Amino acid sequence: MSAEREHWSGSLGFILAAAGSAIGLGNIWKFPYITGENGGGAFVLVYLACILVIGLPVMLCEITIGRRTQRNPVGAFNALNPASCAVAHALGGGIALTGLFLLAFRQWGWGVLALGAGAAIFRRRWVVVGFLGLLAGFTILSFYSVVAGWTIGYAWKALAGQLHFADVPTAAAAFSRFVAHPGWAIACHLAFMLLCCAIVGRGVRRGIERWSKILMPVLFLILLVLILRGLTLPGAMAGVQFYLTPDFGKISAGSVLIALGHAFFSLSLGMGAMLTYGSYLDKRQNLLSAALVIVVLDTLVALMAGLAIFPAVFAKGFSPAVGPGLVFQVLPTVFNLIPLGGVWGFLFFVLLLVAALTSGISLLEVVAAYFVDERGWSRRRAVWLPGAAIFLLGALCAISVGDWDRLPWLRAAIVAAFGAVKGSFFDVMDNLASNWLLPLGGFFIALFTGWIWGVKPAMDEIRQGAAEYTDVPLVSLLAGLKDDHDPHAHHPAMTLAALWGIFIRFISPVAVLVAFLHTIGWLKLGR
Ligand code: PHE
Repeated sequence: MSAEREHWSGSLGFILAAAGSAIGLGNIWKFPYITGENGGGAFVLVYLACILVIGLPVMLCEITIGRRTQRNPVGAFNALNPASCAVAHALGGGIALTGLFLLAFRQWGWGVLALGAGAAIFRRRWVVVGFLGLLAGFTILSFYSVVAGWTIGYAWKALAGQLHFADVPTAAAAFSRFVAHPGWAIACHLAFMLLCCAIVGRGVRRGIERWSKILMPVLFLILLVLILRGLTLPGAMAGVQFYLTPDFGKISAGSVLIALGHAFFSLSLGMGAMLTYGSYLDKRQNLLSAALVIVVLDTLVALMAGLAIFPAVFAKGFSPAVGPGLVFQVLPTVFNLIPLGGVWGFLFFVLLLVAALTSGISLLEVVAAYFVDERGWSRRRAVWLPGAAIFLLGALCAISVGDWDRLPWLRAAIVAAFGAVKGSFFDVMDNLASNWLLPLGGFFIALFTGWIWGVKPAMDEIRQGAAEYTDVPLVSLLAGLKDDHDPHAHHPAMTLAALWGIFIRFISPVAVLVAFLHTIGWLKLGR
């Protein structure tokens, strides 16, 4: 099957598609508002540190597994799965036993879940990580496309001149009314899913790559225009100052972990999206530079989004710390105060839509690749059937955001199985994916590469296409003297290869684990 596997036309196609996956609502919708809530400049620095320490090594890891196996996440772990693995057997057995205990205490939902998961881990070992990725693809896309649908609705409203709000409370009320209207929310969500399915259905080169090559430059252009507009408003500098002046007094352990979790989400890590895109690479590409460029582009766009938003917010005297409503409530109010506000508003929401679209297609591609590779489905079927399922799941999210009580049966079912629920079905999906599936996935991907598959075979894969960078002394590399090194001299101690091995074996998994335990409340680290 791999003989006929599609490949990117070259490294540019891969990089733009992968950057398109990474750059999404996370950068433009979420990053500015969590920066606003966590005090500005200092948080930005912490985020950059997380990107460097965890984001970059794990990114390289996923792309490497993908290119090595030329498979979707499930197939990839199947291919590299060791014949037996004491750690996996112990873990699976332990979880299954816990499940039995839970059942004995009549915790039906958790009990069945733990029993099933434990048995699966015991039997399939690391392949379960691939299935976690698939599950994450389903859940993330279901709520992601609802938010993406709102951007379609808002772009339309901007065009129709309906975004005239005198103040933020009015805008907030209009936003609540919009998302609570199930007809609109579901129609917009459907439109977004149709776009995703249409693009992914055309395949890797003619669909994903082609559209990424069109949409990513558009995104950059719109973002630049919006930054120029924001910076030239009188009073904009207060926003720049907030954004770029670090005040470490405002940083807590909690905000460090938020930065870490967001680094994962923003770089599309932990669920095999980068792994799947990497599986369409051929052996000539330089994985090191590709990973670096993708991470830099993603970070750049997050920083630029802040620069497009905060100066305008401050210039018009609004607070930056309003939470998720920042771009749907504060920005329309800001645009209303600017000449030609409707045009800027329209451009902004198109920007958001473009970013969401290139991410949405990567989420769908993970699921589609599984059905094509492992189940032998035609691409068409592998796209549209899961697409329809995701649409239905997302419709539940869309309905529940406005009013959870519209879905009493769903809520009752979840409560009966798992006890209390926080937030709506939308929040359940978001929480499941962002706080559980992605960090767990990232943790196991790093652990697997560092300790089970092995740094050596992984590095051998990376060397193909990047040999002149991996084994020269780090100082020579930084000094621009990489060609000065005699390849027959024995390996120097500190090379990129060695550095990556240390990060992937120790630093990244420990950092992710600490963050995960803190988010789920098993570890208390101060505020
Ligand atoms: N990285 C995307 C964003 O920032 C979201 C995403 C997560 C996409 C995981 C694919 C996989 O919006």
